[in-house]
Amino acid sequence: MEIFGANLKMNPVPKDNKNTSYQQLVNLVINGYLSTDHRGIAGTAEKRIIVFAPFTHLPQLRNWKSFLNNQKIELGSQDVSEQVSGAYTRQISPVWLKELGVSTVLIGHSEVRKEYEDILEEASPCGYYAEAIDRLFNRKIRNALAHGLEIVYCVGETEKEKQKDETKKVIKRQIIYGLNAFNKEELGKVIIAYEPRWAIGGGKPIPSDEEIRTAHNQIRENACEVGFNLEKLIIMYGGSMDESNAGRIMAIPGVNGGLIGSASLNSERFAGIVNYRR
Ligand code: PGA
Repeated sequence: MEIFGANLKMNPVPKDNKNTSYQQLVNLVINGYLSTDHRGIAGTAEKRIIVFAPFTHLPQLRNWKSFLNNQKIELGSQDVSEQVSGAYTRQISPVWLKELGVSTVLIGHSEVRKEYEDILEEASPCGYYAEAIDRLFNRKIRNALAHGLEIVYCVGETEKEKQKDETKKVIKRQIIYGLNAFNKEELGKVIIAYEPRWAIGGGKPIPSDEEIRTAHNQIRENACEVGFNLEKLIIMYGGSMDESNAGRIMAIPGVNGGLIGSASLNSERFAGIVNYRR
């Protein structure tokens, strides 16, 4: 099984520096992904396609459910609340996501991780909080799983961590704390995405084949330690994946799919990735 995710986010290409409007993003999926011209973007028994849309867009896209169903495109969200019950302004309940037809939740995306890191660093410049953020993601995963949602959990090192040769250590920490204390059945609903943070942003240099292969092997090793059934584990690669490098990346042993940001904002480019040739 291969999985391709379109991570439709705000302003993904910094040099472009313009925000996509609400309607442009809706049109991208409806007229771009779902138009007859791009039937190339369609799920099959061997290939799943998930559109991770911002919360604001989920109801609109759900209205196109029959079209999404025809092309077997699934809906994903970009976050979920860690709160199980109670009053929490701003938070998004997994119950609502289920009701809107969401199948999968993206948790731990590096841009979300960075938001927490920035706040915590400002509060405590010398503090060590990486594990606390992993534990927060763990609670989000638990909450989503409890409501029957599937997870794509993102892991990966920053540029600074890579330079300090800490990739192995960082991935291990993210998996050990983020995926701690789940049973095999629950872990069967978790997909992992390896997203080196320095490669995210579209058009950036991507890791060598060897680096991707090593990171994916390492993820498998750590996933085994927390109790995954390795035969079923899916690991996606994310970070400047596009139509020109998808074939090369997908040929690396251990890569089972891609999480695509910038290039997913153009339906032809996304189709080129999904229908990559080796
Ligand atoms: P990118 O983003 O494809 O623009 O590098 C990847 C992601 O956001 O997951």
